Amino acid sequence: MRLPAWAVPMPRRAPFAIWGGTPLSFANRGATPYRTSMETGTHPTLERGDIMTVALASGASTGFGRLTVEALARRGHQVFAGLRDIGGRNEKAAAELAAIAAAEAIDLRVVELDVTDQASADRAVAAVIDAAGRIDAVVNNAGMIFPGPVEAFTAEEAQRQFDVNVFGALRVSRAALPWLRRQGSGVLIQVGSTSSRVTIPYSGLYAASKAALAGLTEAWHHELAPFGVESVIVDAAPHSTNIGVNAVMPADAARMGAYAEGFGGFVAALSERQTQAPADPRVVSDAIVALVESPAGERPLRTVVAPASQRDAIRSVNTAATEAARAVSADMGVAAFLAL
Ligand SMILES: NC(=O)c1ccc[n+]([C@@H]2O[C@H](COP(=O)([O-])OP(=O)(O)OC[C@H]3O[C@@H](n4cnc5c(N)ncnc54)[C@H](OP(=O)(O)O)[C@@H]3O)[C@@H](O)[C@H]2O)c1
Repeated sequence: MRLPAWAVPMPRRAPFAIWGGTPLSFANRGATPYRTSMETGTHPTLERGDIMTVALASGASTGFGRLTVEALARRGHQVFAGLRDIGGRNEKAAAELAAIAAAEAIDLRVVELDVTDQASADRAVAAVIDAAGRIDAVVNNAGMIFPGPVEAFTAEEAQRQFDVNVFGALRVSRAALPWLRRQGSGVLIQVGSTSSRVTIPYSGLYAASKAALAGLTEAWHHELAPFGVESVIVDAAPHSTNIGVNAVMPADAARMGAYAEGFGGFVAALSERQTQAPADPRVVSDAIVALVESPAGERPLRTVVAPASQRDAIRSVNTAATEAARAVSADMGVAAFLAL
């Protein structure tokens, strides 16, 4: 696909080469339309001694992803906003990001990234490497929700839910991890959900996908630790983003009909509560930014971003899960392989 002119990184006056070296070269990297050289300079937000991070986030057209890439770039990081279909459905969002980058002279670039396509993920990571020479933080944010009674969804619809929320993160991470391992540093940050810990009705597919994402996160956490690479997850409660607008309902009207009363009442109750207490999505992007900026080795495996009334309950499940992992792995004789 031919990219619009504004999608190609602009010459920039910002960041500074804190790693100061030659970009890594790695035989496996793919072709990319992005070419730029590393530049040096100063940035108004990062202070002396702060570390400038090269970050790639998926799903940056709206919601948490959009807030995250803007916040990271404004803080002086070198940020690659992954958007799918930037020549079409996300043309406006991509142009807006490019305009923000130009107006504020921040290092925020748009890269094409459809997480359902491994080649797209490979190209996006290659674009980051070509431009920056490294990649420090991968924010696996792209996601969707397929709300409704589980029975109403076909297996194909369930696969689509998992294809974005689970395999999407797998694809992007698979593209980035050879670089992170070679660097001996970096972090995968998954945008998960409290529903991976507490499953309520009518969000079964979504909860299952986020539970799967949490499982991947934990496995990566243990497996990547010996390489100096971290994997963490943000368990976010419901917040006001475009996720509802982009929700995909079951196509099977007859099966949906059987659940109409319960589902209708559920949606009404949920909407009423969310209207009473709308949750600012910025707290989630703030948490992601804090994880990106945390010193290596000090990032918690799980960060819960939820109202105080829910937070302690979710944290207690997380604490119990960590204790259970320690106990079970000790019993299996593999405790030494856990990074807990
Ligand atoms: N909002 C909440 O209440 C909540 C709570 C917990 C966790 N989360 C999670 O937070 C993450 C971000 O969601 P959000 O709430 O910010 O919703 P959102 O505003 O709808 O953002 C979702 C983003 O994912 C992108 N996306 C969807 N499919 C994609 C694909 N195949 N390839 C690349 N990008 C794709 C969307 O791009 P398009 O614009 O092209 O569709 C959009 O940029 C998701 O993983 C979601 O599950 C949300």
